[in-house]
Amino acid sequence: MLCLGIESSCDETGLALVRDGKFIAEKLASQVDVHALFGGVVPEIASREHLRALPALFRELMQEQALTADDIDVISVARGPGLQGCLLMGLNFAKGLALSTGATLIGVNHLWAHLMAAGLEQELQFPSLGLLVSGGHTHIYLIKSSSEFILLGRTLDDAAGEAFDKTAKLLNIPYPGGKIVDELARAGNADRKMFPTPYINNDNLDFSFSGLKTAAAMYVQDHPELRLSNMGIPDSETEDPEITRQRNDMFASFNYSVAKTLSVKTERALERNKGVKSLIVAGGVAANSVVRTVMTKVARKFSIPLVLPSPKFCTDNGAMVAFSGYLLAKEGFRHGLDLEAIPRGRV
Ligand code: KG4
Ligand code: ZN
Repeated sequence: MLCLGIESSCDETGLALVRDGKFIAEKLASQVDVHALFGGVVPEIASREHLRALPALFRELMQEQALTADDIDVISVARGPGLQGCLLMGLNFAKGLALSTGATLIGVNHLWAHLMAAGLEQELQFPSLGLLVSGGHTHIYLIKSSSEFILLGRTLDDAAGEAFDKTAKLLNIPYPGGKIVDELARAGNADRKMFPTPYINNDNLDFSFSGLKTAAAMYVQDHPELRLSNMGIPDSETEDPEITRQRNDMFASFNYSVAKTLSVKTERALERNKGVKSLIVAGGVAANSVVRTVMTKVARKFSIPLVLPSPKFCTDNGAMVAFSGYLLAKEGFRHGLDLEAIPRGRV
């Protein structure tokens, strides 16, 4: 079964081919540089970029694999959550292909696809606990099968990735700053008291990162020298070493607070869901070095394997959508050409 995956929910256009659950090839066009100019994703521009990129990437992908559209059995497309206009670009491209080739069309949940991404590299086991930490979402699921996800907790305000990006922006580090914060933090020392570990002293599995974001904003207000004079990436070669050190320590402390908060709620979820066979952590923030280390410890404590996609499958990509579609196709799912985008809420 040859499955094409189409991802266009936000600012990455991703196309990938998966045959019988095995990754074959992918194409990814990132719009990050375009949106960095505006400090965040501009929906109208993002939609137009997808419209431009989709046919070109598709042609390249198929040509390089010496395949034609008629070889595709399943067309899997992210139907949400995401930006409405962006999702519609992917959906319409998928529908056009399905109409012309007769391939099976399947709309998949972008968040579930993130959590299934690790299946590209290893066998997934069910039930599992899934932590999805991305730029737009922070969700904990009990995953009963590749098509049964029970939402146990979610962020009440900002997502973990958003907290990273907004903190980076305060310092004039370009969007999306999470990866840069993580890289700089590696040279710093975490002060566990610098920032709060928000919303953990309660009995639920929800998150709230807005307090952490505010604490970071106040810290920057008290230390304006840490802010770059122009938007860019700090250069330790030319900067005062003391400023570099302080900023790196701030980022290490921020990393710690996010990772600690995630780990407290994940442990709580595991205590309440004894019998899960693995802990799956996915989404852009799953690429974070401290999150990876902390989650390794959590999984060890509960004697279950930690399942993490490799970093390239953590951020948005077409392969996770292709793989998710493959799993659903195997279960007999399919959609008609009336498939709609679901930008928010339950998909
Ligand atoms: O899953 P993703 O690619 O897109 C969404 O669906 O949102 O996640 C993107 C988010 C951004 O907020 C980005 O800053 C964050 O993931 N991110 C990281 C790291 N790499 C990406 N955050 C912290 N540390 C990283 N290494
Ligand atoms: Zn995503």
